[in-house]
Amino acid sequence: MPNKWTLVNEDCIEHMSTLPDAMFDLAVFSPPFPAMYAYTDQCCDIGNSESFAGDAKLHLAFFYNQIARLIKPGRVMVVHCMQIPRMKRCGEVGLHDFRGLNIRLGERAGLVYEYDWAVRKNPQAQAIRTRSRELQFVGLESDRAKTRGCLHDYLIKFRAPGENAVPINAKNEISRNDWIKWAEGTWMDIRETDTLNVKDGRGDDDTKHICPLQLGVIRRIVKLFSNPGELVFSPFAGIGSEGYVSLKEGRQFYGCEIKPEYVRAAEMNLQKAAARDEEQLGLFAGMEA
Ligand SMILES: C[S@@+](CC[C@H](N)C(=O)[O-])C[C@H]1O[C@@H](n2cnc3c(N)ncnc32)[C@H](O)[C@@H]1O
Repeated sequence: MPNKWTLVNEDCIEHMSTLPDAMFDLAVFSPPFPAMYAYTDQCCDIGNSESFAGDAKLHLAFFYNQIARLIKPGRVMVVHCMQIPRMKRCGEVGLHDFRGLNIRLGERAGLVYEYDWAVRKNPQAQAIRTRSRELQFVGLESDRAKTRGCLHDYLIKFRAPGENAVPINAKNEISRNDWIKWAEGTWMDIRETDTLNVKDGRGDDDTKHICPLQLGVIRRIVKLFSNPGELVFSPFAGIGSEGYVSLKEGRQFYGCEIKPEYVRAAEMNLQKAAARDEEQLGLFAGMEA
């Protein structure tokens, strides 16, 4: 890839079927949350799947079957997700087990489920944003039977079966002190606002906007599970967060995204990251001379 990055404006399930086996060194992404955020009016937008046990599961099953064959043997895929509240307007209560659905479909596609980190969220901010009675004081003071804590994020780690041909052990990427923090099962120190700017990706008729993945989360995953120069994949690239960090950390990036407005925003973000990378290389080249 002469450019260090490629971005494709297509349905990732169809596009992945055109790619060769074992193409990627690492995949990291947030799948669209079914029945929650619809990003486009296209039926291949997984956010438009209405029924969890029906079309969402089917869509994601096709997705996992494709992506499982694209990860190099012994290499890692990290899926960022959360449990999804059932819709009160449909007369439902409780949560959909989205984390479990991803784990089951990943395993069924042949990937090995190895771990998940939890990422801490702020309960007050979530109570205000989601207006969820389960979290608000009003629920606490009316009937505590219906209360629950806030929903945190999960980072599900899968590995492709087989031996890893190239160990991930590049020097000076992760210190022992980093690992002492990162080996905690819950990452408490991720800032929720540490994201790319979403404004540029908004379409005129958008009612909901994208929730970009925190850059600090992506940075840890990229450093833990890839070597410099390797190829990182996000099938749901959004405004390009996974690509932005990958490039800034000296990796290459390949992404798919269905919504043209997001693709344009992602292209700008990737250009920025690549330009900064080149600037830095220039600086270091100067120092060596
Ligand atoms: C949770 S967002 C990902 C955000 C991304 N991690 C970021 O930080 O910018 C999910 C994305 O998947 C896209 N999407 C939904 N269905 C898709 C499909 N079939 N193929 C490719 N992209 C799709 C949506 O448009 C949305 O941008």
